Amino acid sequence: MTQSLILRRPDDWHLHLRDGAMLEAVLPESARHFARAIIMPNLVPPVVTAHDARAYRDRIMAALPEGMDFTPLMTLYLTEQTDPDDVADAHASGLVSAVKLYPAGATTNSASGVRDFDKVRGVLDKMAEIGLPLCVHGEVTDADIDIFDREAVFIDRVLDPIRRATPGLRVVMEHVTTSDAVDYVTSQPQDLAATITTHHLVINRNHILAGGIRPHYYCLPVAKRETHRRALRAAATSGDARFFLGTDSAPHTDALKESACGCAGCFTAPNTLSILAHVFEEEGALSRLEGFTSLHGPAFYGLPANEARITLTKGDPVPYPSRIETGDGPVTVFDPGFALHWRVT
Ligand code: DOR
Ligand code: ZN
Repeated sequence: MTQSLILRRPDDWHLHLRDGAMLEAVLPESARHFARAIIMPNLVPPVVTAHDARAYRDRIMAALPEGMDFTPLMTLYLTEQTDPDDVADAHASGLVSAVKLYPAGATTNSASGVRDFDKVRGVLDKMAEIGLPLCVHGEVTDADIDIFDREAVFIDRVLDPIRRATPGLRVVMEHVTTSDAVDYVTSQPQDLAATITTHHLVINRNHILAGGIRPHYYCLPVAKRETHRRALRAAATSGDARFFLGTDSAPHTDALKESACGCAGCFTAPNTLSILAHVFEEEGALSRLEGFTSLHGPAFYGLPANEARITLTKGDPVPYPSRIETGDGPVTVFDPGFALHWRVT
Protein backbone atom coordinates (compact mmCIF):
# COMPACT_ATOMS: atom_id res chain seq x y z
CA MET A 1 0.00 0.00 0.00
CA THR A 2 1.40 3.41 -0.90
CA GLN A 3 1.42 5.79 1.97
CA SER A 4 1.22 9.46 1.25
CA LEU A 5 0.89 12.64 3.16
CA ILE A 6 -0.23 16.06 1.97
CA LEU A 7 1.22 19.06 3.77
CA ARG A 8 0.97 22.76 3.37
CA ARG A 9 4.15 23.89 1.67
CA PRO A 10 6.84 24.17 4.37
CA ASP A 11 8.97 27.15 5.38
CA ASP A 12 12.50 27.12 6.75
CA TRP A 13 12.85 29.45 9.73
CA HIS A 14 16.67 29.44 9.71
CA LEU A 15 18.69 29.14 6.52
CA HIS A 16 22.15 30.08 5.24
CA LEU A 17 22.13 30.90 1.53
CA ARG A 18 25.57 32.61 1.35
CA ASP A 19 26.31 34.74 -1.71
CA GLY A 20 27.73 34.63 -5.23
CA ALA A 21 28.41 31.20 -6.74
CA MET A 22 27.41 29.38 -3.56
CA LEU A 23 24.07 31.20 -3.42
CA GLU A 24 23.35 30.26 -7.02
CA ALA A 25 24.02 26.59 -6.33
CA VAL A 26 22.22 26.18 -3.00
CA LEU A 27 19.17 28.42 -3.49
CA PRO A 28 17.31 25.97 -5.78
CA GLU A 29 17.84 23.21 -3.21
CA SER A 30 15.71 25.16 -0.73
CA ALA A 31 13.32 26.81 -3.21
CA ARG A 32 12.35 23.39 -4.60
CA HIS A 33 10.57 22.46 -1.36
CA PHE A 34 10.24 25.59 0.79
CA ALA A 35 8.03 28.61 0.15
CA ARG A 36 9.85 31.01 2.48
CA ALA A 37 12.93 31.05 4.64
CA ILE A 38 14.45 33.27 7.29
CA ILE A 39 17.79 34.18 5.72
CA MET A 40 20.80 34.37 8.00
CA PRO A 41 22.83 37.58 7.72
CA ASN A 42 26.31 36.20 8.53
CA LEU A 43 27.90 37.06 5.21
CA VAL A 44 31.34 38.59 4.98
CA PRO A 45 30.82 41.48 5.57
CA PRO A 46 27.55 40.86 7.46
CA VAL A 47 24.09 42.17 6.55
CA VAL A 48 23.92 44.94 9.12
CA THR A 49 21.75 47.74 7.76
CA ALA A 50 18.43 47.93 5.96
CA HIS A 51 20.43 48.98 2.91
CA ASP A 52 22.52 45.78 3.12
CA ALA A 53 19.40 43.63 3.55
CA ARG A 54 17.69 45.17 0.53
CA ALA A 55 20.77 44.58 -1.63
CA TYR A 56 21.10 40.98 -0.40
CA ARG A 57 17.42 40.29 -1.03
CA ASP A 58 17.86 41.58 -4.58
CA ARG A 59 20.84 39.25 -5.12
CA ILE A 60 18.80 36.30 -3.85
CA MET A 61 15.89 37.09 -6.14
CA ALA A 62 18.27 37.52 -9.08
CA ALA A 63 19.74 34.05 -8.36
CA LEU A 64 16.32 32.36 -8.18
CA PRO A 65 15.82 30.20 -11.27
CA GLU A 66 12.93 31.11 -13.57
CA GLY A 67 9.69 29.47 -12.52
CA MET A 68 10.65 28.85 -8.88
CA ASP A 69 8.52 30.44 -6.20
CA PHE A 70 10.43 31.44 -3.07
CA THR A 71 10.31 34.38 -0.68
CA PRO A 72 13.40 35.24 1.36
CA LEU A 73 12.52 36.70 4.77
CA MET A 74 15.43 38.97 5.54
CA THR A 75 17.21 39.51 8.85
CA LEU A 76 19.63 42.11 10.16
CA TYR A 77 22.83 41.16 11.95
CA LEU A 78 22.83 42.86 15.36
CA THR A 79 26.01 44.77 16.19
CA GLU A 80 26.85 47.13 19.03
CA GLN A 81 26.51 49.97 16.49
CA THR A 82 23.07 48.97 15.16
CA ASP A 83 20.75 51.97 14.95
CA PRO A 84 17.29 51.31 16.47
CA ASP A 85 15.65 53.64 13.94
CA ASP A 86 17.20 51.84 10.97
CA VAL A 87 15.82 48.58 12.38
CA ALA A 88 12.38 50.12 12.92
CA ASP A 89 12.32 51.52 9.38
CA ALA A 90 13.38 48.18 7.90
CA HIS A 91 10.59 46.49 9.82
CA ALA A 92 7.95 49.09 8.95
CA SER A 93 8.72 48.80 5.23
CA GLY A 94 8.28 45.02 5.40
CA LEU A 95 11.92 44.45 4.47
CA VAL A 96 13.02 42.48 7.52
CA SER A 97 11.31 39.77 9.54
CA ALA A 98 13.79 39.48 12.42
CA VAL A 99 17.09 40.62 13.87
CA LYS A 100 19.83 38.07 14.51
CA LEU A 101 21.93 38.05 17.65
CA TYR A 102 25.31 36.36 17.44
CA PRO A 103 27.40 36.58 20.58
CA ALA A 104 30.79 37.73 19.22
CA GLY A 105 32.95 34.72 18.42
CA ALA A 106 30.21 32.10 18.85
CA THR A 107 30.27 30.74 15.31
CA THR A 108 30.99 31.30 11.59
CA ASN A 109 31.38 35.02 10.79
CA SER A 110 30.24 36.17 14.21
CA ALA A 111 33.18 38.49 14.89
CA SER A 112 30.96 41.56 14.46
CA GLY A 113 28.44 40.21 16.96
CA VAL A 114 27.63 41.43 20.43
CA ARG A 115 30.13 41.49 23.32
CA ASP A 116 28.46 43.93 25.68
CA PHE A 117 24.72 43.37 25.83
CA ASP A 118 24.14 46.79 27.43
CA LYS A 119 25.19 48.33 24.11
CA VAL A 120 22.22 46.78 22.26
CA ARG A 121 19.65 47.72 24.89
CA GLY A 122 18.15 50.51 22.76
CA VAL A 123 17.65 48.18 19.78
CA LEU A 124 16.08 45.45 21.92
CA ASP A 125 13.69 47.92 23.54
CA LYS A 126 12.68 49.21 20.11
CA MET A 127 12.14 45.64 18.87
CA ALA A 128 9.92 44.83 21.86
CA GLU A 129 7.92 47.97 21.13
CA ILE A 130 7.35 47.17 17.45
CA GLY A 131 7.03 43.38 17.85
CA LEU A 132 10.06 42.45 15.74
CA PRO A 133 11.45 39.03 16.76
CA LEU A 134 15.03 38.48 17.88
CA CYS A 135 16.62 35.28 16.56
CA VAL A 136 19.30 34.14 18.99
CA HIS A 137 22.38 32.00 18.54
CA GLY A 138 22.32 30.77 22.12
CA GLU A 139 25.85 29.92 23.14
CA VAL A 140 28.24 31.70 25.47
CA THR A 141 31.71 32.16 24.08
CA ASP A 142 33.80 32.05 27.27
CA ALA A 143 36.87 29.90 26.76
CA ASP A 144 36.41 28.39 30.23
CA ILE A 145 32.93 27.04 29.48
CA ASP A 146 32.99 23.59 27.93
CA ILE A 147 31.64 23.60 24.37
CA PHE A 148 28.96 21.05 25.31
CA ASP A 149 27.70 23.34 28.10
CA ARG A 150 27.63 26.62 26.19
CA GLU A 151 23.93 26.54 25.32
CA ALA A 152 22.73 25.72 28.83
CA VAL A 153 24.97 28.39 30.36
CA PHE A 154 23.77 30.95 27.80
CA ILE A 155 20.17 30.51 28.95
CA ASP A 156 21.02 31.37 32.55
CA ARG A 157 23.65 34.02 32.01
CA VAL A 158 22.43 35.84 28.90
CA LEU A 159 19.04 34.88 27.52
CA ASP A 160 16.95 34.90 30.65
CA PRO A 161 18.41 38.22 31.88
CA ILE A 162 17.81 39.83 28.45
CA ARG A 163 14.21 38.63 28.37
CA ARG A 164 13.55 39.83 31.92
CA ALA A 165 15.04 43.22 31.10
CA THR A 166 13.01 43.53 27.89
CA PRO A 167 9.38 42.61 28.56
CA GLY A 168 7.49 41.88 25.36
CA LEU A 169 10.61 41.04 23.34
CA ARG A 170 9.73 38.12 21.08
CA VAL A 171 12.62 35.65 20.90
CA VAL A 172 13.40 32.60 18.81
CA MET A 173 16.03 30.42 20.41
CA GLU A 174 17.57 28.98 17.32
CA HIS A 175 18.78 25.47 16.61
CA VAL A 176 18.27 24.25 20.17
CA THR A 177 20.39 21.21 21.01
CA THR A 178 19.70 20.47 24.68
CA SER A 179 16.94 19.33 26.98
CA ASP A 180 17.82 22.46 29.01
CA ALA A 181 16.70 24.65 26.12
CA VAL A 182 13.54 22.60 25.54
CA ASP A 183 12.69 22.88 29.23
CA TYR A 184 13.37 26.61 29.28
CA VAL A 185 11.11 27.21 26.26
CA THR A 186 8.25 25.15 27.65
CA SER A 187 8.56 26.84 31.06
CA GLN A 188 7.95 30.32 29.63
CA PRO A 189 4.39 31.58 29.32
CA GLN A 190 4.90 33.76 26.23
CA ASP A 191 7.11 35.46 23.66
CA LEU A 192 9.54 32.56 23.31
CA ALA A 193 9.84 29.87 20.64
CA ALA A 194 12.63 27.64 19.35
CA THR A 195 13.73 26.22 16.04
CA ILE A 196 15.09 22.71 15.74
CA THR A 197 17.29 21.52 12.87
CA THR A 198 16.89 18.33 10.92
CA HIS A 199 20.37 17.09 11.73
CA HIS A 200 20.00 17.53 15.49
CA LEU A 201 17.03 15.16 15.35
CA VAL A 202 19.28 12.55 13.73
CA ILE A 203 22.79 12.74 15.16
CA ASN A 204 24.29 12.88 18.60
CA ARG A 205 27.92 13.67 19.45
CA ASN A 206 29.04 10.09 18.84
CA HIS A 207 28.24 10.49 15.16
CA ILE A 208 30.88 13.21 15.00
CA LEU A 209 33.58 11.52 17.02
CA ALA A 210 33.19 7.76 17.44
CA GLY A 211 35.23 5.60 15.04
CA GLY A 212 36.87 8.60 13.35
CA ILE A 213 36.22 12.30 13.10
CA ARG A 214 33.41 13.17 10.69
CA PRO A 215 33.61 16.80 9.71
CA HIS A 216 30.31 16.81 7.84
CA TYR A 217 28.50 16.19 11.14
CA TYR A 218 30.23 19.11 12.84
CA CYS A 219 28.03 22.17 13.32
CA LEU A 220 27.33 24.76 15.97
CA PRO A 221 25.84 24.39 18.44
CA VAL A 222 27.59 21.02 18.36
CA ALA A 223 25.38 17.94 18.68
CA LYS A 224 25.10 16.80 22.30
CA ARG A 225 24.64 13.41 23.97
CA GLU A 226 21.78 11.03 23.14
CA THR A 227 19.49 12.14 25.98
CA HIS A 228 19.41 15.61 24.44
CA ARG A 229 18.65 14.31 20.96
CA ARG A 230 15.72 12.42 22.45
CA ALA A 231 14.45 15.59 24.13
CA LEU A 232 14.63 17.41 20.79
CA ARG A 233 12.69 14.64 19.06
CA ALA A 234 10.06 14.76 21.77
CA ALA A 235 9.73 18.55 21.43
CA ALA A 236 9.62 18.54 17.62
CA THR A 237 7.00 15.81 17.47
CA SER A 238 4.95 17.03 20.45
CA GLY A 239 2.66 19.33 18.51
CA ASP A 240 3.70 22.21 20.81
CA ALA A 241 3.52 25.29 18.55
CA ARG A 242 6.56 26.83 20.22
CA PHE A 243 8.80 24.42 18.28
CA PHE A 244 9.24 24.65 14.53
CA LEU A 245 11.69 23.81 11.75
CA GLY A 246 14.78 25.90 11.13
CA THR A 247 17.14 23.70 9.18
CA ASP A 248 20.28 25.82 9.70
CA SER A 249 21.32 24.30 6.38
CA ALA A 250 24.81 25.78 6.23
CA PRO A 251 26.86 24.94 3.14
CA HIS A 252 30.64 25.00 3.21
CA THR A 253 32.83 23.52 0.48
CA ASP A 254 34.35 20.12 1.17
CA ALA A 255 37.79 21.73 1.18
CA LEU A 256 36.74 23.94 4.10
CA LYS A 257 35.00 21.11 5.99
CA GLU A 258 37.64 18.41 5.47
CA SER A 259 40.45 20.39 6.95
CA ALA A 260 42.67 20.51 10.04
CA CYS A 261 40.32 23.25 11.27
CA GLY A 262 37.00 22.49 9.59
CA CYS A 263 34.06 24.88 9.37
CA ALA A 264 30.83 24.29 11.29
CA GLY A 265 27.69 23.52 9.33
CA CYS A 266 25.57 20.70 7.90
CA PHE A 267 24.07 21.09 4.42
CA THR A 268 20.59 19.61 4.75
CA ALA A 269 18.50 21.62 2.29
CA PRO A 270 18.19 18.91 -0.40
CA ASN A 271 16.98 16.00 1.75
CA THR A 272 15.51 17.67 4.85
CA LEU A 273 11.88 16.82 4.17
CA SER A 274 12.58 13.16 3.42
CA ILE A 275 14.58 12.93 6.65
CA LEU A 276 11.91 14.66 8.71
CA ALA A 277 9.18 12.37 7.41
CA HIS A 278 11.37 9.40 8.40
CA VAL A 279 11.95 10.83 11.88
CA PHE A 280 8.29 11.72 12.49
CA GLU A 281 7.21 8.28 11.27
CA GLU A 282 9.70 6.64 13.63
CA GLU A 283 8.19 8.67 16.47
CA GLY A 284 4.63 7.75 15.45
CA ALA A 285 3.94 11.43 14.81
CA LEU A 286 3.41 11.83 11.06
CA SER A 287 0.19 13.68 11.80
CA ARG A 288 2.23 16.37 13.57
CA LEU A 289 4.77 16.91 10.79
CA GLU A 290 2.76 19.66 9.12
CA GLY A 291 2.60 21.67 12.33
CA PHE A 292 6.38 21.53 12.68
CA THR A 293 7.23 22.31 9.05
CA SER A 294 4.36 24.51 7.91
CA LEU A 295 2.11 25.91 10.65
CA HIS A 296 3.91 26.79 13.90
CA GLY A 297 6.51 29.03 12.28
CA PRO A 298 4.08 31.26 10.37
CA ALA A 299 1.92 31.52 13.50
CA PHE A 300 4.87 32.79 15.57
CA TYR A 301 5.92 35.27 12.88
CA GLY A 302 2.34 36.45 12.34
CA LEU A 303 2.23 35.29 8.73
CA PRO A 304 -0.39 33.19 6.96
CA ALA A 305 0.44 29.53 6.38
CA ASN A 306 1.16 28.73 2.73
CA GLU A 307 -1.80 27.80 0.58
CA ALA A 308 0.15 25.52 -1.78
CA ARG A 309 0.59 21.86 -0.81
CA ILE A 310 3.35 19.28 -1.21
CA THR A 311 2.90 15.53 -1.19
CA LEU A 312 5.22 13.12 0.58
CA THR A 313 4.97 9.57 -0.74
CA LYS A 314 6.59 6.53 0.82
CA GLY A 315 8.16 3.99 -1.52
CA ASP A 316 11.49 2.80 -2.87
CA PRO A 317 14.60 4.53 -1.51
CA VAL A 318 14.87 8.09 -2.79
CA PRO A 319 18.27 8.83 -4.26
CA TYR A 320 19.87 12.10 -3.18
CA PRO A 321 23.28 13.15 -4.46
CA SER A 322 26.04 12.79 -1.89
CA ARG A 323 27.30 16.22 -2.91
CA ILE A 324 26.33 19.11 -5.12
CA GLU A 325 28.71 21.05 -7.35
CA THR A 326 29.06 24.78 -6.83
CA GLY A 327 31.24 27.41 -8.45
CA ASP A 328 33.27 27.43 -5.24
CA GLY A 329 33.73 23.62 -5.12
CA PRO A 330 31.70 20.58 -4.07
CA VAL A 331 29.44 20.69 -1.01
CA THR A 332 28.55 17.43 0.75
CA VAL A 333 24.88 16.77 1.45
CA PHE A 334 24.06 15.65 5.00
CA ASP A 335 24.02 11.84 5.22
CA PRO A 336 21.42 10.75 7.79
CA GLY A 337 22.92 7.25 7.89
CA PHE A 338 19.70 5.50 6.85
CA ALA A 339 17.83 5.02 3.59
CA LEU A 340 15.18 7.63 2.82
CA HIS A 341 11.84 6.32 1.59
CA TRP A 342 9.73 9.49 1.65
CA ARG A 343 9.76 11.36 -1.65
CA VAL A 344 8.59 14.93 -2.06
CA THR A 345 6.38 15.65 -5.05
O1 DOR B 1 26.97 25.11 12.14
C1 DOR B 1 26.77 26.30 11.95
N1 DOR B 1 27.04 26.89 10.77
N2 DOR B 1 26.29 27.04 12.95
C2 DOR B 1 26.18 28.37 12.87
O2 DOR B 1 25.75 28.98 13.81
C3 DOR B 1 26.65 29.09 11.66
C4 DOR B 1 26.61 28.21 10.49
C5 DOR B 1 27.36 28.77 9.31
O3 DOR B 1 27.16 29.94 8.98
O4 DOR B 1 28.14 28.05 8.71
ZN1 ZN C 1 22.78 29.13 11.41
